[in-house]
Amino acid sequence: MFGWCVFVSFSEEKVTVLSLQEMKRVGRKIVMLTAYDYPTALILDEVGVDIVLVGDTLGMVVLGYETTLPVTMEDLLRHCQAVRRGVKRALLVADMPFMSFNVSEEKAIENAGRLVKEGGAEAVKVEAGQVTERAIKAISGAGIPVMGHVGLTPQRIHALGGFKVQGRNVEAAREVIEEAKRQEEAGAFAVVVESVPWQVGKVITEELEVPTMGIGAGVYCDGQVLVLHDMLGLFERFLPRFVKRYANLKEEIKKAVLKYKEEVVEGRFPDKEHSYEMPEEEVKKFLG
Ligand code: KIV
Repeated sequence: MFGWCVFVSFSEEKVTVLSLQEMKRVGRKIVMLTAYDYPTALILDEVGVDIVLVGDTLGMVVLGYETTLPVTMEDLLRHCQAVRRGVKRALLVADMPFMSFNVSEEKAIENAGRLVKEGGAEAVKVEAGQVTERAIKAISGAGIPVMGHVGLTPQRIHALGGFKVQGRNVEAAREVIEEAKRQEEAGAFAVVVESVPWQVGKVITEELEVPTMGIGAGVYCDGQVLVLHDMLGLFERFLPRFVKRYANLKEEIKKAVLKYKEEVVEGRFPDKEHSYEMPEEEVKKFLG
């Protein structure tokens, strides 16, 4: 009964970095998805997704790049603005593109500030790397909430040698766990944990006070995140083991487009129902 009440009140209230900490405290799982445009942002918010991330996966699933590396601040800003118009309840988080936070602390604060000021984001996300903790400290010190990201971090794809599961042996697992702890210490309000064995996701979740958002990190994380186009069946270049397809929208869209094509070619579209009609008295004058 108590758990149900918590769920109802969390479902109605605006999500903030504080309510996310409370969700972890009471064991209410946090639901997070990516979005890149206004119509899908509206749907996610209507359904009650807690965190909407304008991820730099934008580059792969929407812009058609091979990796996330070419995504620019301008790309992220434009899509964040569109998503902002559709999101009311969820916490809106914007990913910081490759090299937008790594060059200097000043640049990191400046770019995070743009995502909030111009993009309408309420928080930003940074991926793990040599300078990430400094960036988290600087950005959160400037009053902008920062989400961390450990494990498989696609902005390091060349250093990691591909999209590979991380933390598979004890030493590598310890490194991922330590990295998550450092991000929390630096001020992260939550940490995404990507592509690690579930045992590693569980230890990180137990050791951090802030919520963990798992993507391929097992069921013990405080919440789960997926890339929208992966779970809807709209991106098929590759399908990691952790992606569950909840729909096959590519097939649905293909069926609709094919039907439209046939009806246009056969002259069956538009029919009377989808055409405008001139009033009868006008028709007489018009046609003589
Ligand atoms: O860019 C993105 O979509 C992400 C998620 C995979 C968490 O970082």
